[in-house]
Amino acid sequence: MPKTAHPRKSNRHWTVKGKTDKVLCSGIKGCSPHFDRPDKDRRMFRSVLPADAYLDDRYIDLENQRIFQKLWVFAGIRSTLSKKNAFLTRTIGGVPVVVTTVDGITIRAFENQCRHRQMPLQSAAFGNRPMVCPYHAWSYDQDGKLRAVANAHLYQMRQSEKDSIGLREFAVRVIGNLIFVNLSENPLPIEEQFDPKMLAEVAECSSFMDARYAYTSFEVNYNWKLGYENAVDYNHVPFVHPSSVYKLWKKEGPDHQQNAFSEDMTWDLEETAHATAALPDLSCSRMVGFVLEPRPYTPLMRRYGDKDIHHTWFMYPNMGFGTIVGEWFVIQQYEPIAPDRTRFHLWTTTAQSVDHRKDFLALKRSVMEAEKRVVDEDVPLLEGLQRSLYRGCSPALLGAYERPIARIGKWYRDNVMA
Ligand code: FES
Ligand SMILES: [Fe+2]
Repeated sequence: MPKTAHPRKSNRHWTVKGKTDKVLCSGIKGCSPHFDRPDKDRRMFRSVLPADAYLDDRYIDLENQRIFQKLWVFAGIRSTLSKKNAFLTRTIGGVPVVVTTVDGITIRAFENQCRHRQMPLQSAAFGNRPMVCPYHAWSYDQDGKLRAVANAHLYQMRQSEKDSIGLREFAVRVIGNLIFVNLSENPLPIEEQFDPKMLAEVAECSSFMDARYAYTSFEVNYNWKLGYENAVDYNHVPFVHPSSVYKLWKKEGPDHQQNAFSEDMTWDLEETAHATAALPDLSCSRMVGFVLEPRPYTPLMRRYGDKDIHHTWFMYPNMGFGTIVGEWFVIQQYEPIAPDRTRFHLWTTTAQSVDHRKDFLALKRSVMEAEKRVVDEDVPLLEGLQRSLYRGCSPALLGAYERPIARIGKWYRDNVMA
């Protein structure tokens, strides 16, 4: 099994090989005081994230500024914006955002706040209407510029003032069928946030999604970071989802579990102990073989791939996109509301039909019901975890398979807490 490469590997590193516990190098220069220092007898590491990061209001403000208003954040599904004046609204980093299209082709994102008295221009989560404020009917054009003012004589506005009024616009990148928005004035290239290989896979897979989908959102009583950490933690599945997801996991043979229990468990202690983490390291993908009965509708679908594999891409900071056997698609997103409250968004759909008479609506509904049942198995556990945290409690202990969680903690320490 090849050893996992690490892009910032230097001469100064520790490596524990397999079962030998052999420390090849030693020396700890520049090691952060936050870390447990590695030694040859120790494999587990304390998370660098204090419980405060899951409890304290000030982290919500820091996260809004340094994560959600700075990084690319998933905003919605491209194929839902194919008609003129279609829109969707989201809150990203505490900022109301409307993603819209005037012509059904070009996707733009603006602050969803009228420049007059700050009314949301669009109130619904999704819809189809031009950008006209419902309060006093100011309207905006496709570039977000103020186009017309109703009862203009009441304002005594000069033409030069009118020409200067417009909505704040945000950067948009469409990856296959997924829309990402970046609120920063100087957005980093999305390829610096996500590995280009991952972006290419997500673009291809999401292009198989049907345009009609099921959506729900609901509040859960735990920190959004627990949602993402739980999603990348595949080792909870046998214990929390024994009769739902785990029952379907292929336990042996080819394709049974890739990047999951069969992954290389060589534990690079330098990586764990004191290297910083780069943004693309915070996202990862996982493939697990599924055992399913043959589906009669499979030949009627434009299926992604031809294997019974559950493939998920976890895209930091707060979304997971996956396909189950190339026929069902699921998107989860964890939007922070308060330290102990998160809005959970869930989208499900099927692959496109090759027969225009088949829309798979009943199947779309049942995929949503099945996915919601799985989420409902996680929620009470994570709510209990959140309740057990208190200021000053010992940080989490992480082992080899929890590398993605360790990296997230380090990046957060260096970029949010610093
Ligand atoms: S608040 Fe929008 S027109 Fe007045
Ligand atoms: Fe789970």
